[in-house]
Amino acid sequence: MNWSSIFRKKSIEKILSDSNNREHGPALVRNLTLRDLTFMGIAAIIGAGSFSSLGQACFSGGPGVVILFIICAVACGFTALCYAEFASRVPVSGSAYTYAYVSFGEVFAWIIGWALLMEYSIGNIYVAFSWSGYFTNLLDGIGVHLPEWLTINYQAASSAFKEGKVGEGMNAWLHAPQLGSLRIIFDMPAVLVNVLITSLVYIGVNETRRVSNAMVILKLAIVLLVIVVGAFYVDIDNWTPFMPNGFGGVMGGAAAVFFAYIGFDAVSTLAEEAKNPQRDLPKGMMYSLVICTVVYILLALVLTGMIGYSQLGVSDPLAEVFKLKGVKWMLYIVSIAAVVAMTSVLLVFQLGQPRIWMSMSRDGLLPKRFAKIHPKYKTPGFSSIVTGLVVGIPIFFTDEQFVLDFTSIGTLFAFLLVCAGVLMLPPKDKSIPHVQKTFRLPYINGKWIVPMLVLSSALSLWKWAPEYVGSQLEITGDNAANTIPMLVFMVLCVVMSVMSYKRNLSLIPVLGVLSCTYLLTGMAASNWIWFGVWLLIGLVVYLLYGAKHSKLAKAAKSLS
Ligand code: ALA
Repeated sequence: MNWSSIFRKKSIEKILSDSNNREHGPALVRNLTLRDLTFMGIAAIIGAGSFSSLGQACFSGGPGVVILFIICAVACGFTALCYAEFASRVPVSGSAYTYAYVSFGEVFAWIIGWALLMEYSIGNIYVAFSWSGYFTNLLDGIGVHLPEWLTINYQAASSAFKEGKVGEGMNAWLHAPQLGSLRIIFDMPAVLVNVLITSLVYIGVNETRRVSNAMVILKLAIVLLVIVVGAFYVDIDNWTPFMPNGFGGVMGGAAAVFFAYIGFDAVSTLAEEAKNPQRDLPKGMMYSLVICTVVYILLALVLTGMIGYSQLGVSDPLAEVFKLKGVKWMLYIVSIAAVVAMTSVLLVFQLGQPRIWMSMSRDGLLPKRFAKIHPKYKTPGFSSIVTGLVVGIPIFFTDEQFVLDFTSIGTLFAFLLVCAGVLMLPPKDKSIPHVQKTFRLPYINGKWIVPMLVLSSALSLWKWAPEYVGSQLEITGDNAANTIPMLVFMVLCVVMSVMSYKRNLSLIPVLGVLSCTYLLTGMAASNWIWFGVWLLIGLVVYLLYGAKHSKLAKAAKSLS
């Protein structure tokens, strides 16, 4: 194998001409408007993060979690601008995977595609579990009670039993039917919703769009109702102390809060179904992100204002606040909204994953079947079914916390590379004369601004959160392993400051790189090890299959 070929880059012209190649079947149907794309963004963003994982984040950070929402919004905002820049230059379906092929080369593109599997498929496992929690509540409300061994995952039940924790997990373990020594415990609603979503995605994007738009309107209306009704129960005394566990406690919720923002980028996988992708994809991403940021900040303020933060560490915080306040009628409304909201998240991600695989397959990095378009439904049928399996099978084995952390690391890693990728793009359109670019990432010279921002942020943290700085730099004790990501981040700050000064780097992508890396420092060290193993497996798969079948490498070989 020619090792240098794994870094070969794909030109934008080649990507566009490949996407018009009909070797794999008919083209996808272009019928998504700006409104549809914005709705798809919101459909993907507001879900399990706001209805479930927000509880943990509030518990860890107290009302100060609002700061984390702002930090995540800033990081995602910079990333969305970088995605938008790419989406306007490379309007095909592969999202960050395709963008990395243009800017970093093949092996990085593969690695991003591999990491995106976390966001699009593994993330949906968490959403399916949360969906099941709220759905089971609803069923209970109408008097239908499923046995516990059909509503909880095996891992959670087994841990509850080992730890002697009385409750749903313990009941499931004690009453589950057995096949030999194996206890039959699985989350049936999570499995069933996955089958339903996979079928819908298989049938087609037009049907999906109609269902998704209706769900977005309903979920936005109900989340706004929660905010308005909740506001009447806010007691401002609950907002003090603002950061009961210090800034470290706030950052402890990083994976959970970041998860709530994931999704705006899924819009970029719909490039080949958008009527005017170069104009509408960037706008769709930005609009959906801005709307959700406002909603989240209001929601976090209302929740932490309604009850003490220490009561929020539950998996259904939006229902919990109304339960504790005795507002029974809101309980059902919240549960319905949660089920609807999470269904739309499942739908958009399950729609995105096959389209990324389709792009990878077109490039020869995955078998041809992944790019095959169904002759009747005009969807990537095989990829849609494989996605359903990738989400569905682990539902039987994993637990929520693990998939949540894993998803956030994988997605942040992909975001980081997208921002860095923009720095590698040719600065002007001259290099791609025939591609009409309709969105422009504003160029702001980072020469002075980056070093000054880095310095002032470091000094502010030192002054306002000295205990946090101290804990992050502790090189002995339990926290030692968590110090490594922080040290890497600090080195990166220095390197980016020097490079910005020397090369007049564009401010927005630089801040995107730095803010995403900062959020990565909030992830637990043990998850980094898992993520490293995951990337390594990806690399082996690439070397065994992708590197050998890559169309770009083959084309270069036939030329030489
Ligand atoms: N942001 C999506 C959610 O919260 C993944 O469910």
